[in-house]
Amino acid sequence: MTFKKNILCIGGGYVGGSTMAMIAHKCPHYKVTVVDINPTRIAEWNSNNLPIYEPGLDSIVISTRGKNLFFTTDIERGIKEAEIIFVSVNTPVKTFGAGAGMAADLQYWEKTARQILECSESSKIIVEKSTFPVRTAFAMERILSLNENNIHFDVLSNPEFLAEGTAIKDLEYPDRVLIGSRETPSGVKARNELIEIYANWVPKDRIITSNIWSSELSKLVANAFLAQRISSINSFTAFCEKSEADINEVARAIGMDSRLGDKFLNPSIGWGGSCFKKDIFNLVYLCRHYGLDEVANYWEAVVNINEYQKERFVRTMLSAMFNTIAGKKICLFGFAFKANTGDTRESPAIFIATKLIDERAELVITDPKALNNARIDLNGINGAVSYSEDPYEAADGCDAIAVVTEWEVYKDLDFKKIFQSMVKPAFIFDGRNILNHKQLFDIGFNVFPIGKPALTHF
Ligand code: UDX
Ligand code: UDX
Repeated sequence: MTFKKNILCIGGGYVGGSTMAMIAHKCPHYKVTVVDINPTRIAEWNSNNLPIYEPGLDSIVISTRGKNLFFTTDIERGIKEAEIIFVSVNTPVKTFGAGAGMAADLQYWEKTARQILECSESSKIIVEKSTFPVRTAFAMERILSLNENNIHFDVLSNPEFLAEGTAIKDLEYPDRVLIGSRETPSGVKARNELIEIYANWVPKDRIITSNIWSSELSKLVANAFLAQRISSINSFTAFCEKSEADINEVARAIGMDSRLGDKFLNPSIGWGGSCFKKDIFNLVYLCRHYGLDEVANYWEAVVNINEYQKERFVRTMLSAMFNTIAGKKICLFGFAFKANTGDTRESPAIFIATKLIDERAELVITDPKALNNARIDLNGINGAVSYSEDPYEAADGCDAIAVVTEWEVYKDLDFKKIFQSMVKPAFIFDGRNILNHKQLFDIGFNVFPIGKPALTHF
C-alpha cells in the first residue's frame, strides 16, 4: 500500500508513543513510524504488554500496528523515508555542569538533530514535540542548516499538552493544538502541512498558530500555571488546618467564580509527574539567564510550596502518631504520581516513603499499576518495605494508612474490615481527601484529611 505521507517520531515515550498512535488511528492514509534508541521499549511497543499504561491506548495500538503504525529501532531508515519528523526525546533536568539541577539537558535533543542531518537525503519538516527551552528551534535550525546537500529543513514547534491517565481523550479531543512556525513562505507551507494532519480529526478552530518562540514558551507557561494553581490551593490547606476552615468548601466557593473556574483545585500531598518541576526549573533558569530575578523567584516559589506540602504531610503523620513511628507499620495507598497511570516520576510517594523509612517505619505499598516502578524507585533503600497489589492485605496489621494516590478503587473499600485488621489506635492520613472522613471516624479511625480539622478519638 502507498501512503500519502510518511511520518516519523523519534522517541517512543509517553508523549511520542501515544501521540503517534492517535495520528495512525485517525489517519489510515499516513504511515506512522516510531523509533527509539531503547530496543526494550520498542520490543514492548510491538508486544501485547505496552511499555506504558494509558486507558484506551491498547486498543488503538492493536488496531493500527502493522497496518500504518510501526515501531522500530532503525532510526537511519526512518529518517530517510520520512517527510515529517516529530522529535519527542526526553529533556531531563541537567545533572552536571552549568545549570545543573535547573536547566534542561539538551544532549539527546542535539544528538537527534545531528542524526537527522546525517541521514537525510531530502528536505523535511522537523516538529519539536518535546518541551524545550525557548529558542531551541533556533539552535535546531542552525544545526540542520549545516548540510551541504542543499536539503532544506523547516522547524516547527508543536508542544503536547496531554496529561497522563487521560492521554487518549486529550489527544482525541484537544482543547487546542498549537503550532509555532516562521512566517517565511516555506515556514507557512510547513505549518499548513502539519495543520492538514491534525485537521483529520481536530476542528479547525482548535488548531491555533503563533510564532515559534510563543509556542515554545506557551508550553512552559501552561505547566507553570497548572502547578501554580495546585500550589496555591495547597498553600491554603496549611491555613485551613490552623483556622478550622475546610479547604474543599473553600475550593468549591472560589471554583464557582467563572473567572477562576473549578478545575485543578484538588488539594493534595503535592504535585508530581515528569513535567511540572522540570519545566518550572527550566523557566526559572531562563528567567535568571535574562536577568529577570524577580520573575524567577516568583515561579520558584511554586516549587518551594510543593516541597513544603510534602514535608508537612510527613510531619503531620509523625506528630499525630505520638512523635514516633519507629517500628510502626504504615501502608501507602498508591504510589503513582496520579491516578490511572503506572508512572511514578517525581511522585510525592517517593519523598514520603523515603522520609518514613528515615524515621524507621516499616512500609507496605499498594498500587493497582505502579508497583513495578515503586520497586525500582525504592531499590537499595535501607529499610523494611514490602509490596502488595491487594489493599486489604497491605493494610493488614498496619498502624496507619496514608492515601497518596487518588485511585477510585480506594473510595469503595470495606473500611470496617480494614479497621478490624489494623493495630489500634488506627490512623488514616488522606493525602487526597477522597475518602468519607466522617464514616471512617465512626468506624473508629483517627482521621487526618488535608486542609480540614482532624477527627480523632483522643
Ligand atoms: C518526554 C519529556 O519528559 C517531556 O518533557 C517532553 O515534552 C517529551 O519527552 P515522555 O514521552 O514522557 O516525555 O518521556 P519518556 O517516556 O522518557 O520518552 C522519551 C523516549 O525517547 C524514551 O523512550 C527514550 O528511549 C527515547 N530517546 C531518548 C531516544 O529515542 N533517543 C534519544 O537520543 C534519547
Ligand atoms: C501535566 C499537564 O497537565 C499536561 O498538560 C502536560 O502536557 C504535562 O504535565 P501530567 O503531569 O500528566 O500533565 O498530570 P496532571 O493531571 O497535570 O497532574 C500533575 C500532578 O498534579 C499530579 O501529581 C496530580 O495528582 C496533581 N494534581 C492535579 C493535584 O494535586 N491537584 C489537582 O487539582 C490536579
